[in-house]
Amino acid sequence: MRSFLFVPADSRKKLERAMTSGADALIIDLEDSIALDGKARARESAAAFLKSTLAATSRPYLAVRVNGLQTGLTDADLDAVAPAKPDAIMLPKAEGGTSVVHAAAKLAVREALSGLPDGSIKILPIATETAAALFLAGTFASASARLIALTWGAEDLSAELGAQANRDAQGRFLDPYRLARALCLAGAAAASVPAIDTVYVDFRDETGFRRECEDAVRDGFSGKMAIHPAQVPIINEVFTPNGEALAHAQAIIDAFAKNPGAGVVGIGGVMYDRPHLARAERLLERKS
Ligand code: COA
Ligand code: MG
Repeated sequence: MRSFLFVPADSRKKLERAMTSGADALIIDLEDSIALDGKARARESAAAFLKSTLAATSRPYLAVRVNGLQTGLTDADLDAVAPAKPDAIMLPKAEGGTSVVHAAAKLAVREALSGLPDGSIKILPIATETAAALFLAGTFASASARLIALTWGAEDLSAELGAQANRDAQGRFLDPYRLARALCLAGAAAASVPAIDTVYVDFRDETGFRRECEDAVRDGFSGKMAIHPAQVPIINEVFTPNGEALAHAQAIIDAFAKNPGAGVVGIGGVMYDRPHLARAERLLERKS
């Protein structure tokens, strides 16, 4: 999955529009885009949308962003949406594997009550939204088979750090957020799940957005979150491996296949060893 589009759960119009956005996944939001007094209505709207959409033959992956475990709102969120069987929940302000274990236990209870198979609802944590979470980014491995990916966030983190900004004048993330981004990548790799890049809030800045997508692909992210439908086609384009990259990966795989037992091969005057082979294989896996 490449593109994950946030949609406020209380907007039927945006939910409908999101269905035709081309996003691989929708994140139906009950958290930051919903004011406290609108949570109850948003939960109902999310559940109704899930029920009406799950049966569709062609539909995006459907995740619901619940409120964080620290808020006291998570149980009511799950009571409302788990019976409607979302593919996953996004867990904001996660603090390491313990949060995932905690959320998994809550999901297991709802699945049992709704007659759903145990483990059917997956978990996608936002792994870097609190200062404490940064120190726990390496603890997601084996927390739960429900873990499908890791993503990261800079907005709540900057509020917690007391920062005045999280990007420089050119729109590039400042050091504390580059650290959070790198910890997400490493934490995801350590847990053997994909890493998904964070949102770009300046949704009219297509140039800056594209650059951030390209940087994310280069560094190993396999997808990115969007806040506006206009961002979706750019994500899908940039995160789909292009013909040239695929042909190059295939050439590396072919060269090793022709030289079984070789630890290193040369192609076009450049050395490729085992880590390059692993990377080429991963790229070809992403094609499908
Ligand atoms: N999902 C689905 N549809 C969306 C959308 C989204 N995330 N964002 C905008 N749209 C729709 C608008 O409703 C509008 O539809 P219309 O043409 O039928 O009126 C169209 O796309 C164009 O929107 P635009 O006028 O460019 O933006 P806006 O001012 O209406 O909305 C935001 C701007 C930021 C409020 C909106 O993009 C949004 O709600 N984003 C998601 C916010 C969120 O979930 N945040 C939490 C995660 S950080
Ligand atoms: Mg937030």
